[in-house]
This record gives sequence, structure tokens and C-alpha cells, in this order.
Amino acid sequence: LFGEGRKNSDGYDITDAPSLLILREAMAQAEKEPWTAAPLVGGAPVAGKAMAVYSPADRGYKVGDVTLATADTAKDAFERALRAQPLWDDVPATDRAAALERAADLYEAHGARLMAIVMREAGKTLADAVAELREAVDFLRYYAAMARADFAGPTDLPGPTGEIDQIRLHGRGVFLCISPWNFPLAIFSGQVAAALAAGNAVLAKPAEQTPIIAYEAVKLLHAAGVPADAVHLLPGDGPTIGNALLSDPRLGGVAFTGSTDTARLINRKLADRDGPIVPLIAETGGQNAMIVDSSALPEQVTRDVLISSFQSAGQRCSALRCLFVQEDVADKQIAMIAGAMKELKMGDPAFLSTDVGPVIDAEAKAALNAHIADMSKTAKKVGETPLPAACDKGTFVAPMAFEIPNIDVLKTEHFGPILHIVRFKAGEIDSVVDAINGTGFGLTCAVHSRIDETVTRVLKRLRVGNAYVNRNQIGAIVGVQPFGGEGLSGTGPKAGGPRYLHRFAVERTVSIDT
Ligand code: SER
Repeated sequence: LFGEGRKNSDGYDITDAPSLLILREAMAQAEKEPWTAAPLVGGAPVAGKAMAVYSPADRGYKVGDVTLATADTAKDAFERALRAQPLWDDVPATDRAAALERAADLYEAHGARLMAIVMREAGKTLADAVAELREAVDFLRYYAAMARADFAGPTDLPGPTGEIDQIRLHGRGVFLCISPWNFPLAIFSGQVAAALAAGNAVLAKPAEQTPIIAYEAVKLLHAAGVPADAVHLLPGDGPTIGNALLSDPRLGGVAFTGSTDTARLINRKLADRDGPIVPLIAETGGQNAMIVDSSALPEQVTRDVLISSFQSAGQRCSALRCLFVQEDVADKQIAMIAGAMKELKMGDPAFLSTDVGPVIDAEAKAALNAHIADMSKTAKKVGETPLPAACDKGTFVAPMAFEIPNIDVLKTEHFGPILHIVRFKAGEIDSVVDAINGTGFGLTCAVHSRIDETVTRVLKRLRVGNAYVNRNQIGAIVGVQPFGGEGLSGTGPKAGGPRYLHRFAVERTVSIDT
């Protein structure tokens, strides 16, 4: 699908000491430069009052300054995007694709700088920053390849009419892309690249917590040849930008990744306005489970639980929230997980030894601590990672595991390193799957079993977008593991999948009498 000669990004091998040294040096150099973010409208930064951005790993570490977009700035960007969109849609899809491919090359060329920003601004570990950059590059190249394959020319539809019948894909207009802080480069770039590849102009609204990396990304898109008026950056507060744009009947569509509640709010605003009914492409929350039966390999389960629950401090929409373990093996399995949790290292994401970095901000930490306080009263704590004193500098939450009676105790998604564990008895696997489906979410689920019949049975009953067998459930790879959920978890189509671009497009049929 990546087309001739294309493949996923190689990224950086941080296990190779000489390459690591070179990378660290380049990242250290990048950190000496001042980092800023501002609205980019027509390619130019918009002046205004700057606010400091601090690192989640150390609230005394100033990452840079951001100027927020006002409602007027958003409206100005919208008018420019409206004028630019037909011109961008007229650019041959192969040329739009070439610009995105050049952007991918620029992302790689500036990789150390982008990773340094992601690490400081979002508190990502080095391993996560490497994965983040790779995914962003993959999205750019993959959607470019999709544009070449599906948007480059009309598709002939030969048939019984004796006429020339053709279908052609075009952009829908101006897309508002609203992205989250947990993949501030990858998801940001994925949404924007898809909208651009399909022939839309873009208003990109990054998460409030991560404007600097988004600013760098848009500058690279412009440097790669995406016209300044085809993509504008609107860092700022959600309601200010949302209220300025969502009620305008000229908006062509919205791509959103974030909470289910915010997706509902956007949907209501789009529904209430006059004008055409436009798509909302939403990737939202999860209440992701893993099912472990007595045939599973305990060491492998332990490793996959730790990766799924605690990598990225549990701040992935794919992350494991509720582990179901068969009673016969539960004591041993829980003891192994608890033992491994004690060994996890929390701390500065810049250290290679760090397994778990901070959560994104004080609000996230307070929400997780409130949940931990609640769990401490109502559930049994069965695992915890020691929190070093140095972590007081940032917004860290120690990984914890609690035994709960069933998944329905969890009323909302708890977006952090908190694992919940439920025991089930042999023969109850169907009701376990029903309980998982019963949450209404449908994003990821992992199954650990060496019994083929069990795996087949679970997969047939399960209603999730991404199912994983005998492995962890995070880190879907662009192009081969299209990602996205169903039910409360999203509208589809899947990011990094062959149909993603189509939702950003309109189809026009032309019939010519010969
Ligand atoms: N795509 C990410 C993953 O698979 C989650 O957003 O982990």
C-alpha cells in the first residue's frame, strides 16, 4: 500500500550506543534554541501576549512560549483557507502527495529537534519520542501514497451505458483538525496530512498542552511546499476556537481525537448549524481489556500487561485498563505483575533508564489521584511502583493495580497508569466478553490464550476496532494495523488504513455521451 519503494520509517536505534550518542548530542543542541509557538495564519506567526509552557516532568523547566489564537485570528484563518481550498484541490494529487513526502523527509531531517520538543513538552520518554516521530513520518508517507493511488485521476467505470462513466475524488472544503496532547506530533500530522492529501484546506487546532511541536510541524509542512494558506495553525483554548468555527455552515468537516464527551459536543454543534451535514471523524476513548486464560504464558502476559498499561504512563487511548485473569492462575499472575511493577523506573523522560514518565498536567494528575483515592476505599490494591522523591518536581502518578469485581465498576476512562484486575472462572469467557462489550467502548482488546478455540470464540464475540492475540495492545503500525474503534470509541474510518482518506473527500460522477 505504501507504493513503489515506500516503507515505514526506520526511526532511530537507541540500543546502538554510537547512534544514541549522536542523537543525544543533536537533541541537546536543539534544546539550546528558544522554542516558541504562535498562530500561523498565511504562513506568518500572529503576534500577541505570550504564555510560558512548562514541562510535565519538571514544572520549573520552561519549554518555551506560546501565543494563543483569538476568535478573530481563527476567523481570519478560515477566510483564507476558504479561498485557498479550491486552488489546493486543483493541484494534481501526485503533487500534493509529493509535498507530503517532502514533509516526511524534513521531519526525519529535523528528527532530533522534534523528538527533543516532544520529550520536554509532552513528557515522553526517549523510546516513545522515537515511536512518535516514526508514526508521524509514516502517516505523511502513507496518506501521500493513498492520494497517489485513489485521487490522482478519474476512475473509469465501464458498463452497460455505452458512455464514458467516471468517478473522481475531491476535497470537501476546509477541515478543522483537533488533535490530542498524547500524540502531539503523530496524530496531529496524521489528521492534517489526510485532510491535505484529499484536497482540503486545514485549520489545525493542537491540544492546549502541546502547541510548540505543532508549530514546528506546520512550519515543516510549509517548507515542504504545502501552500501557506492551505494549512493554518490555531493554538488556543478549545471553546474559543470551537465556537468561532463550528457553527459556520462553510466548514467542510472535522477530524477530532480526544474524549467521547467532547466528540458529542462537536457533533451537537455541527448538527445545530444551518448548511450541509458534514462528517465528524472522531477517535475517542476506550475501556480496553485483556483476557488471560489458564493456558497463557505467565512471563509473556506480565511483559505485555506492563507495556499495555504503563508505557507512555498509560496515556494512550489503546492502553490496557482492565485485565481479566482466569481464577486458576490469578494469584500467581497477579504476584508476577506486582513484582514487575516494583521494578519499573519512574523519572525524567530524558534518562534512558526511565520506563514511566509524567502524566501531562496537574489536572490529569488530580483526576487520577481522585480515582486512586476512590479505589483505595472500594478495591484491593495489588501492585504499585515506587515513586522516587525527585518526581515531586513534575506531575507524576505511580503505576498502581487494583482488584475490582467487574469492569462495570469503571464508569469512565481513567487516562493514566492505573490497572484494574478482574478474576473470572473457567467456562465464563463468553460473559467476560459480554461485560467488555457492555461498556459500550470498542477500541482495543488483547487475548492471551494458547487454545485456538478460545481465541476464535473471543474474537468472534468481541466488538472492538483493534484486537491483539498473545501480545500487547498498543503501538499500532501505520499501513498494516489500521487503528480506530467502534461504539463509544469512534466513528471510523481507521487512521493509517486504506479507507481513511475517503471520509475527507466527496465523490463526483461524470457521465459523457460519446
Ligand atoms: N495508535 C496508538 C496505539 O496504537 C494509540 O493512539 O497505541
